[in-house]
Amino acid sequence: MTSPPNDLLTRLRASEQEHVLLDWDSLDNDARATFVRQLAAIDFAQLAALRARVNTSADAMPANFAPPHVTPAAFTAEEKARGADALQRGKIAALLVAGGQGTRLGTLQPKGMFPAAPISGVSLYQLHAEKVFAIGCRYTHKLPFLVMTSPATDAPTRAFFAEHEHFSLVPDQVKFFQQGTMPAACPRTGRLLMEAPGRLFLSPNGHGGTLTALAESGLLRELAARGVEHVFYFQVDNPLVKVCDPGFIGRHLATESEASSKVIAKELPEEKVGVLVEVNGRCSITEYTQLPKHLSEERDANGELRFRAGSPAIHLFSVGFLERVTRTAAGALPYHAARKSVAHYDPHTRTMVPAPPAGEPNAVKFERFIFDALPHAERWLAVETPRDEEFAPIKNATGPDSPETSAVAQLALYAQWLARAGVETNGNLVEISPLFALDEDELAAKAPRLPAITEMTILN
Ligand code: UTP
Repeated sequence: MTSPPNDLLTRLRASEQEHVLLDWDSLDNDARATFVRQLAAIDFAQLAALRARVNTSADAMPANFAPPHVTPAAFTAEEKARGADALQRGKIAALLVAGGQGTRLGTLQPKGMFPAAPISGVSLYQLHAEKVFAIGCRYTHKLPFLVMTSPATDAPTRAFFAEHEHFSLVPDQVKFFQQGTMPAACPRTGRLLMEAPGRLFLSPNGHGGTLTALAESGLLRELAARGVEHVFYFQVDNPLVKVCDPGFIGRHLATESEASSKVIAKELPEEKVGVLVEVNGRCSITEYTQLPKHLSEERDANGELRFRAGSPAIHLFSVGFLERVTRTAAGALPYHAARKSVAHYDPHTRTMVPAPPAGEPNAVKFERFIFDALPHAERWLAVETPRDEEFAPIKNATGPDSPETSAVAQLALYAQWLARAGVETNGNLVEISPLFALDEDELAAKAPRLPAITEMTILN
């Protein structure tokens, strides 16, 4: 290929993106062909429209929103039994999203490989996989474990699972699939950023990319064909998540919900979690940046925050709902634009531009959010779960939501389980592996056989 195809040139000119070809002459034939394929897949008009929305009110709060109806997570024996039955009959799959770049944490590896357990230092991937393994043993059915990766996390994630022999899961039980990507643009000029000569700068298209990726990979069809009826969605950075919580599944089934979400009560108005709201009878999650300050601070008659239904990003979706959304509305899941600081290649100067300080973003990235699917659900459910039992995310390197706060929360929960089971720890720190006890009830059942705890201990 000596020169770029004419139709591509026309599209690039029309969208004022010709700079991407400045290095054309220095590329070899293979690189040219790869670059042409990459550019052919780009919808330039869509990108221009998205960028135009940065700093507009397009991401503003919808009108008519109210606090949602939330049910407490004290599940009945009947709900738990119903969920257990669904797990036993193979109706449930677990879906872990692990495509994010973890920029705030600042590790070079996928976040799932981060040592998260407070004493053993076991990785997030291992904790999640062991929960899935333990569920498979308890309910005598090896549920599918879907792991969504991105180009940045795919190869190291697969290698990590292989190296650890899939953490005792049957390899066929673990299904990796990759999410899509989106180019990034200069916020000032709208020009697409480059990663290297002949290569656009691409980033994962957000956790909302899960839905299209699930459908396009054929996995959604495969789940339906295997008789799976509901998918438990969770994020990689929360070691406390109760994967496939049977009570949650049972209530989801009993209410015939299409999309169920756990919520945790926000304690402070400025806490950085999305908030579940009800809009015209439908469920919606609004980002903390969108909720006006006066509303985030508003209190009800009991003195509690009125908009307190914080989202830990734990959902259950019916397969029928996922099929409908991906068939009819996936294209319509909106893109959100975020200003970020990124290192990239400048084809004009032929140099790498280092990432500026975080306060001076030089790029606009575009992401879809999973919670934009929620308003499509005709029947939905919100269940409040105690934060100390189910939410200790690792987002930042230090400060709130860091490895340190997460470790403290994990140890505090295990100490609580042990205390309530009557186990004397003599003030020693104890970590409980999912393989030893998946939940408090299992720990309580094993407690009478536990020896006295006289030193820092890992129960596994
Ligand atoms: P976050 O929004 O916290 O982003 O992801 P992140 O990429 O982990 O971290 P930062 O913002 O760069 O610091 C929440 C969850 O969504 C997944 C992440 O892997 C995490 O489990 N995610 C995020 C994806 O799977 N794909 C994406 O494109 C973005």
